[in-house]
Amino acid sequence: QQHLKTDHYGKIIHYYESCPSTQLIAHDAAQANADDGTLFVAEEQTAGKGRMSRPWNSAAQKGIWMSIVIRPSLMPHQAPQMTLVAAVAIVRAIEELTGIEPTIKWPNDIMISGKKMTGILTELQADPDRVKAIILGIGMNVNQTEEDFPIELKSIATSLRLEGGQVVDRSRLIAEILYYLELYTTMYEKHGFSPIKLLWESYANIEGKRIRAVMLNETIEGSAIGISDDGLLELKMDDGSVRAIFSADIEIKK
Ligand code: BTN
Repeated sequence: QQHLKTDHYGKIIHYYESCPSTQLIAHDAAQANADDGTLFVAEEQTAGKGRMSRPWNSAAQKGIWMSIVIRPSLMPHQAPQMTLVAAVAIVRAIEELTGIEPTIKWPNDIMISGKKMTGILTELQADPDRVKAIILGIGMNVNQTEEDFPIELKSIATSLRLEGGQVVDRSRLIAEILYYLELYTTMYEKHGFSPIKLLWESYANIEGKRIRAVMLNETIEGSAIGISDDGLLELKMDDGSVRAIFSADIEIKK
């Protein structure tokens, strides 16, 4: 808390030595009217969850495992873009604190040297005409060394320490993330998605790249055009048609 420079975010912090999942706790708290910006952070999660009900490895004391309840003035259809707002905020915070320049892999992964360093999980609580809460779960590999990753993650996951060679102060990094998250969320509320989209595209750098997108019931390949104003990934298919993808696992080909 001593490093905080936000107006709202992180003013209330619930801290856990160990808990099953900050996301579940934040979800319940949001339903019970937790304030905008309330933060739930754990040293260790025993049942961390990723996208598509995958487990999320949350080693003790090494990463940042946190969920934040935000109550932005947005319409429900604007909620998916909050994942992209969060990604931009996280990259900006990492750059600021460590000088490392990560890239964003649509929709929610932050990568360094082709390996995953951070994942974002967004959940929405909404009425038909307004967002009540967005629960933003952030899982960051910060101070893990090679030995801390289980064998199946070694070739696909990395940490800030592995990339930058230095132990990173996690509370400083959290404060930096909250600062940019609040800044960019306000920017999105006030000025819409275009300024965020520009930042996102500069960090993701996918334009023109060959992309393979694996969805629940089909897999398609095309070249990336960019993201649409509502945060969908747009691909130009080989027959010249354009497809906008809502959710998928993507592979970026060289
Ligand atoms: C992904 O699949 O890439 C998203 C991973 C999100 C993990 C974070 S860690 C804090 C919060 N609590 C959870 O159980 N999951 C999210």
